[in-house]
Amino acid sequence: MKKLWKNCHIATMQNGQYSSIEHAAMVTSGQHIHWIGTFEDLPADAYSETIDLNGAWVTPGLIDCHTHSVFGGNRSVEFEKRLQGVSYAEIAASGGGIASTVRATREASEQELLASALKRVRCLLKDGVTTIEIKSGYGLDYANERKMLRVIRQIADTLPMTVRSTCLAAHALPPEYKDQSDAYIEHICNEMLPKLHQEGLVDAVDAFCEYLAFSPAQVERLFKTAQSLNLPIKLHAEQLSALGGSSLAARYHALSADHLEFMTEDDVKAMAAAGTVAVLLPGAFYFLRETKYPPLDSLHQHGVRIALSSDLNPGTSPALSLRLMMNMGSTLFRLTPEQTLAGVTIHAAYALGLQETHGTLETGKVADFIAWDIEHPSEIVYWLGGDLPKRIIQHGQEISI
Ligand code: NIG
Ligand code: FE
Repeated sequence: MKKLWKNCHIATMQNGQYSSIEHAAMVTSGQHIHWIGTFEDLPADAYSETIDLNGAWVTPGLIDCHTHSVFGGNRSVEFEKRLQGVSYAEIAASGGGIASTVRATREASEQELLASALKRVRCLLKDGVTTIEIKSGYGLDYANERKMLRVIRQIADTLPMTVRSTCLAAHALPPEYKDQSDAYIEHICNEMLPKLHQEGLVDAVDAFCEYLAFSPAQVERLFKTAQSLNLPIKLHAEQLSALGGSSLAARYHALSADHLEFMTEDDVKAMAAAGTVAVLLPGAFYFLRETKYPPLDSLHQHGVRIALSSDLNPGTSPALSLRLMMNMGSTLFRLTPEQTLAGVTIHAAYALGLQETHGTLETGKVADFIAWDIEHPSEIVYWLGGDLPKRIIQHGQEISI
């Protein structure tokens, strides 16, 4: 059953560029793209359905490759405190921050977590996100990490989206392991991760490598376990200080290292050589009022793929719009709209190991695309939030939003 999508222009995002086809058409067969090109070159064929896209610009479905969308409560009170001058690190040190979300998440039932997460993830879907990565990391013990990961799987069963789950048990030290961070890492490596993986709940492993979380040596221990389980690796690195986590991630051929404000030139070179994607999180940068920028020139110069993501989380980036993050990527990090769009399509696909199937529009790939009612793709980046008119097609089916 082939469907013809006609009367559109397409930014295929091949090679990380618009790679535009004007006056284009696309043919989908089931969940995949069967043919794509100019309308003029459309081969004669029989179609079960013809859909007129009314001159829309079509892009790949957006990919939000770093989120913490599942959590209990929220931290708006802490936001107020920070505006009165208390820092993120000070709040964390006095029992707030991640620890307070851990308390709220442990108290919430699976159903409650699912209901609150669905509201947030629906906002991203309505914004054009068809693939999302969601991390655990607010449970910090087997039962509660499992609860979070099960909720992530349920989100995949509920919404028309591709959902990847990442185990971030090494996000913070749980109260049960106070002053025993090595023992907690051992517990993750010996008990939690192997069990959660065996239950089919984990697609990748992440950690928070930071002076207020886990050291590079502890992260390396976790990476070895992840490798032995054949699980891909990601890392929160150099967000608040330079510990060399991004070089470590590169050494272990991580899919991505994320945040990266404090990374050095050597880290950039290591990531370039390993093909590890730099995931920049302008929402967290903005919300924490950071002043230290990731080394953008150096990342460009060494050809590191740059992805952008919402980092949707209650503490540092309560971001419900990936398009708003794209705008911030351009205004704060001086990425061109084209680089920004690559950052939430093909480069984000690389950051999830999905580059063979997602992230560009080409024959054989999954038919996830957005038909935007705009005059040029840069408009997707230009508008600040709001609801940009669009049609969302996931796996070859238009979804109602
Ligand atoms: O990506 N950096 C660590 N993790 C989150 C923040 C989580 C939180 O504060 O709840 C981040 O910014
Ligand atoms: Fe994060």
